[in-house]
Amino acid sequence: MISTASAAAHPNIAFIKYWGNRDQELRIPANSSLSMNLQELETRTRVSFDSSLAGDQLILNGIPEEGTALQRVSTMLNRIRNMSGLNAFANVESENNFPTGAGIASSASAFAALSCAASSAAGLYLSERELSQLARTGSGSASRSIPEGYVEWQAGTDHDSSYAFSIASADHWDLTDLIVLISKEHKETGSSLGHTLADKSPIQGARVEDADRRLEICRKALLERDFPVFADIVEQDCNLMHAVMMTSDPPLYYWLPGTLEVMRAVQTWRRNGLPVCFTIDAGPNVHVICPVKEADKVKRKLGSLAGVKSILECTPGGPARLLEPDFPEV
Ligand code: PMV
Repeated sequence: MISTASAAAHPNIAFIKYWGNRDQELRIPANSSLSMNLQELETRTRVSFDSSLAGDQLILNGIPEEGTALQRVSTMLNRIRNMSGLNAFANVESENNFPTGAGIASSASAFAALSCAASSAAGLYLSERELSQLARTGSGSASRSIPEGYVEWQAGTDHDSSYAFSIASADHWDLTDLIVLISKEHKETGSSLGHTLADKSPIQGARVEDADRRLEICRKALLERDFPVFADIVEQDCNLMHAVMMTSDPPLYYWLPGTLEVMRAVQTWRRNGLPVCFTIDAGPNVHVICPVKEADKVKRKLGSLAGVKSILECTPGGPARLLEPDFPEV
């Protein structure tokens, strides 16, 4: 027996961040978050359940993987096997169209694409909400890569109540995310471990307690396309997350000198009237957000900064989707 399905998903950038879980295993987050899918970046994944296999297999960008990466995929496949009653192992082949090791997190698009492809290959017909819940168990932010465009992940309190939904379509607001690559080094502490350290910071409680206020301001600004309000709340939320990271035990310092150079430049440009703001995930690269009509100008300015290695330009993206099984190479 062989049963195959393929899917594609985009990564997302959070404007209101997820950091810390109230349930580590199910990845029920400490707070709700809000993000935008990134159309130009994509993971494509093909899953084949095959009764002749002696174990799960994972091939990432053409290279067979073992260890933690395979273990994480198997954990999700086990969940799907339990849901469907299927007991065959699977071959999983996954490719990113963005450079591996470029310091761009791919776990969101990876687990969103895997959830879609594997559940379909197993004969499950899951709703968007069920897919978001499933993707969340692989990587929290993957729950936000299932719906389209601008997405809110409602923290909830258990598996059923924790899922993401679209609050606006991709064409609602033509924002651009200029991903400024500061370093291509692999990050020291991945987010899975980072989430478990969040509660070790004495300020995580204050960050979480204030999160709904920030999310409401950000959601309203986004729906009203109010860039000045949006910019201030996005930066405050990012800085709060990094303050928690830096005050955890052990502390996590994701910024490099080039990171701070971009942050300071962006603040100066905004003070001088340019609509632009920054946000940063668990790594040194900076996501510089601006309306698309300002993107060329912002790119030129970023290019003149010493720490900037290269820039990737992304626009608001669509939902995760099934593909023909034999999708062309990306
Ligand atoms: O989904 P994870 O476990 O890779 O966590 C993502 C954490 C951040 O990227 C730092 C914030 C976010 O909300 O995406």
